Amino acid sequence: MTKRPSILIARNIFPDVVARLREHFEVESNDTDGVLSPQELVARLQGKAGVLTTGSEKVDAALLAACPQLKVVANIAVGYNNFDVPAMTAAGVVATNTPDVLTETTADFGFALLMATARRLTESEHFLRAGQWNRWALDMFAGAEVNGSTLGILGMGRIGQAIARRGAHGFGMKVIYNNRSRLDAATEAECKASYVDKATLLREADHLILVLPYSAESHHAISAAEIAQMKPTATLINIARGGIVDDAALAQALREKRIAAAGLDVFEGEPKVHPDLLTVPNVVLTPHIASATIATRKAMANLAADNVIAFLTTGRAVTPINTLA
Ligand code: GLV
Repeated sequence: MTKRPSILIARNIFPDVVARLREHFEVESNDTDGVLSPQELVARLQGKAGVLTTGSEKVDAALLAACPQLKVVANIAVGYNNFDVPAMTAAGVVATNTPDVLTETTADFGFALLMATARRLTESEHFLRAGQWNRWALDMFAGAEVNGSTLGILGMGRIGQAIARRGAHGFGMKVIYNNRSRLDAATEAECKASYVDKATLLREADHLILVLPYSAESHHAISAAEIAQMKPTATLINIARGGIVDDAALAQALREKRIAAAGLDVFEGEPKVHPDLLTVPNVVLTPHIASATIATRKAMANLAADNVIAFLTTGRAVTPINTLA
């Protein structure tokens, strides 16, 4: 009998997904769920043909050189800025991610965060919990209108489009977007979204939501200069990646009320959060949970498992990021 391939699951995942993987492979699983250091990850990957990772594990040229038996790396995430994809391609390692299965759930959360931010949900809840509510007042926690306002979307991939549909069809919002490439006319019509340049997007959006991938190009796409172009009544929502927003500049802008409020699910250097963001009241902060429903996180883990199973048994991944020669 030929020896079954060995794989690593770098974090704790659902037991039924582990059981599926055990039908095909020798499986080592990091059940403590601690984030492995680069050295620990390399040590655990010795002799492994595949690994399921999350955004917390970096896969770079140094790791690939130290793990010559590795053939497939399946990220349990749609974003993959933790991968050096050219280095993976050069090393003959296929990279996969989890598109589609999280689109609607993540768009739901984008909208939840937008509404919580515009309508000052957490700020008012903290006030109530602190026992400070002793009378009703006409302007108490009066926030920004969502229905009928202008929704700006920076990054118009699958999730951006799902947010556009919610805004346009559900809340009667005027939707404008900016993206590296313009959508085809039929998709624009279906999303009821109009393409504008970035300066117009910043200037006209009442609520600006970021849904673009992180790369060297998108690093600090929103910094002090961009915030200065936004309306003083605007809200900024980041469900994309830490590093797209200059968090220090944003905290200062929030403190000085140069924009009304922000909602952040992702942070530069997370799980650390810029200390100034923790002290300004007009920001809603969540710990990178945009895709976190049980059904969607299971679907993501299952798709990552499908990728490893398919690649190691047939040579073809389900949702590959790179093409091997
Ligand atoms: C989460 O951030 C993801 O990229 O799926």
